[in-house]
Amino acid sequence: MTYEDSIFVRSFGQHELKKLGSGALLLFFIMAFTICTIFKLPVYSQVDLVKPVHNFSNSRSDVYEMNGDIRIHSNSSTIFVAPSFHVEIISSWTIKPYARKQKETKIERVREWKVKYHQVPNCSRRFTIPAVLFSTGAYSGNYFHAFTDIIIPLYLTCRQFNGKIIFLITDNYSWWVSKYNVILEKLSKYDVVDIDKENEVLCFSRMIVGLKSNKEFGIDPRVSPHYSIKDFRQFLRITYSLEKETISPCHKKFGIIRRPRMLIISRRKKRHLTNESGVAKMARTMGFDVVVKEMGSNVSLVAHFVNSFDVMMGLHGAGLTNMIFLPENAVVIQIVPFGLDVASDTYFGLPARDMKLRYLEYKVSLNESSLLGKYPNDSEVYRDPHAIHKRGWAAFYFTYAFNQEVNLDLGRLRATLVHAFELVCS
Ligand SMILES: *[C@@H]1O[C@H](CO)[C@@H](O)[C@H](O)[C@H]1NC(C)=O
Ligand SMILES: *[C@@H]1O[C@H](CO)[C@@H](O)[C@H](O)[C@H]1NC(C)=O
Ligand SMILES: *[C@@H]1O[C@H](CO)[C@@H](O)[C@H](O)[C@H]1NC(C)=O
Ligand SMILES: *[C@@H]1O[C@H](CO)[C@@H](O)[C@H](O)[C@H]1NC(C)=O
Ligand SMILES: *[C@@H]1O[C@H](CO)[C@@H](O)[C@H](O)[C@H]1NC(C)=O
Ligand SMILES: *[C@@H]1O[C@H](CO)[C@@H](O)[C@H](O)[C@H]1NC(C)=O
Ligand SMILES: *[C@@H]1O[C@H](CO)[C@@H](O)[C@H](O)[C@H]1NC(C)=O
Ligand SMILES: *[C@@H]1O[C@H](CO)[C@@H](O)[C@H](O)[C@H]1NC(C)=O
Repeated sequence: MTYEDSIFVRSFGQHELKKLGSGALLLFFIMAFTICTIFKLPVYSQVDLVKPVHNFSNSRSDVYEMNGDIRIHSNSSTIFVAPSFHVEIISSWTIKPYARKQKETKIERVREWKVKYHQVPNCSRRFTIPAVLFSTGAYSGNYFHAFTDIIIPLYLTCRQFNGKIIFLITDNYSWWVSKYNVILEKLSKYDVVDIDKENEVLCFSRMIVGLKSNKEFGIDPRVSPHYSIKDFRQFLRITYSLEKETISPCHKKFGIIRRPRMLIISRRKKRHLTNESGVAKMARTMGFDVVVKEMGSNVSLVAHFVNSFDVMMGLHGAGLTNMIFLPENAVVIQIVPFGLDVASDTYFGLPARDMKLRYLEYKVSLNESSLLGKYPNDSEVYRDPHAIHKRGWAAFYFTYAFNQEVNLDLGRLRATLVHAFELVCS
């Protein structure tokens, strides 16, 4: 039987067998059994302790934690695990270390790594610090995906190591590493390794391949390691030295009312608000201190800026990811373009509520959308967005997300802004 066979094998590593001899092995099991009996431990949990690979995979991501003698050889995209005795294993399998599973070209292009129980190659360098291997490919260029697919999973996977973990990054985008460097440095005290360019064999005694993920733009506290999105937001506040944990009251002493600050996230490219200035003007007359701004790419500056607001409003899109930096109890108003209800709720609505933000939605009607007039009156595009969705994500996204501008009905929007004002100033 070879180690290449992709089947379950109950095997004893070749080295250990030779070293131990069958007598020693028998003695070991008698001792293990005796210890278990004395301390009333279940026998199988003792076996688990020597299990070299733990599988934490779920529907969102594949994650393996390996212990023992782990050697990574980038040139052959292989992670070698020295076979140890008495473990139930699959001898070889592959993994794409990116926390989103989807049949989609960008995700399919993520570098694939092979994990192999095999005679290990010689080490070029040995590390005593554990390592984590992950990809900064696929959708990492999108701000929302950078957080939900990489940064939150990285926090979930690595926070517990208190900085004592080495990052092995595959599909390296140097700009990605520099853009999020402040966060990366807070999670790891060591230089990032560009594993794709590494020719040598690097050896570790503990390695995690892939990043843990359990919720869209959020964290499920019921799942190990039991962090919450509140913990993550606290981590970001410390990382970027953000001042406000919660919004300040509108009423000051002697009845003076502070004007609540409202940020309107501007989008210049697709999906923009054509009467943005009209919206801002109305909000000002209602008592808000309004700033209309397109967000830049310097995360430190953006984080500080966003943290100073009580209300953030914007069209469905990556800009809303900045809610992560808002103080608690702030209001998020998502302008939901025609047809994008489900995506809006999944990606931003539910996460906002989890973050202890007050979430309001303004659903764009067809008469406020540039889609009106583009298709025949009785088109399915107007009647049944769900039917378009069922026919495939690409067509759906192209129709509703790429080709839609909105011109908000100020009379109808007013009620939503009144509600927001009451929430932050009552
Ligand atoms: C890891 O667990 C997942 C989910 O339970 C399973 O689909 C996968 O086959 C497992 N991987 C290995 C190598 O056993
Ligand atoms: C690996 O190391 C052993 C012992 O140091 C040596 O004999 C062997 O030649 C090395 N193999 C390779 C491929 O370098
Ligand atoms: C990423 O790649 C760039 C060049 O392409 C290199 O300068 C940089 O050091 C790499 N960084 C990491 C962390 O892999
Ligand atoms: C990488 O692998 C290729 C072929 O697979 C080989 O030609 C090359 O020498 C290897 N490079 C190193 C540094 O091992
Ligand atoms: C959009 O705002 C403009 C002012 O910028 C206003 O004249 C127009 O009536 C608004 N559109 C709607 C549909 O209310
Ligand atoms: C972001 O801006 C700050 C302050 O101007 C600056 O110190 C920092 O280098 C910038 N970061 C990046 C990644 O450009
Ligand atoms: C647009 O449609 C909404 C709901 O369908 C309706 O309440 C509103 O009055 C309409 N506005 C205009 C300007 O026709
Ligand atoms: C489509 O709507 C326009 C304007 O509302 C109307 O003039 C036209 O007759 C309608 N066409 C059909 C086929 O219903």
